[in-house]
Amino acid sequence: MRRKIVAGNWKMNLSWEEAKTLLLGINRFANIHKRDCKVIICPPFVYLDRANDIFIGHASVGAQNISEYDNGAYTGEISGEILNSIGVHYTIVGHSERRQYFGETNEQVGRKVDKAIERNIKAIICCGETLEDRNAGRQKHVVKEQLTAALRNVNKEAMERQIIAYEPVWAVGTGQTASPAQAQEMHAFIRNEVLEPIFGAEVADNSSIIYGGSVKPGNAEDLFVQPDIDGALVGGASLSLEDFNSIIHAAQRL
Ligand code: 13P
Repeated sequence: MRRKIVAGNWKMNLSWEEAKTLLLGINRFANIHKRDCKVIICPPFVYLDRANDIFIGHASVGAQNISEYDNGAYTGEISGEILNSIGVHYTIVGHSERRQYFGETNEQVGRKVDKAIERNIKAIICCGETLEDRNAGRQKHVVKEQLTAALRNVNKEAMERQIIAYEPVWAVGTGQTASPAQAQEMHAFIRNEVLEPIFGAEVADNSSIIYGGSVKPGNAEDLFVQPDIDGALVGGASLSLEDFNSIIHAAQRL
């Protein structure tokens, strides 16, 4: 049985004072529900270390990005080695905003996944089609291409520790969630037609595939009851303690 995962991607939001209050609240709640749901918070880089000090117990912190390089003259970049040295064990890779605004390619995403794995950091590997892709019926093709590139060097054993996040670009930050049926269709496709041919049925079955794109307290449970949806990567609603806790609660009830 796959355990549910609820991850919060704070993106570029919150002052440290606001962040601290939110982290303290999440820490309390995550410890109550530790058996049922894994909670991961991805704050801005500069808060990672302090967030780690606040998360005593079962919630974890994750980065929002990782460099494709080991170390050296790459101004503004953060490597897996640096993340490792402050005890960060998760990172988002290939978020659609990185692809859209910073030109990250499928190949770069693949190199970032490699770096995360080398450092024993679990990657939350994002994929998802644009509205244009969906309108043209290309969503499965696009997602398969993104994931095939991202996972090209990943072996079976490492795959068991990674997390896939399906985030249709048209649902990110728009308030327009994929319907549970649309999301389930894509998650089943990822499990059965992308992961299974590469890694085999057992690894595909054990892999966590979470959904992102306007997940809110009002739609979380309908998404979480779908057989191939193993949790959520939450943007906007992860900035509110009440909303985020109620999404954790929805995962925990199942
Ligand atoms: P929203 O929940 O704000 O749509 O953002 C989703 C997201 O991008 C999480 O990574």
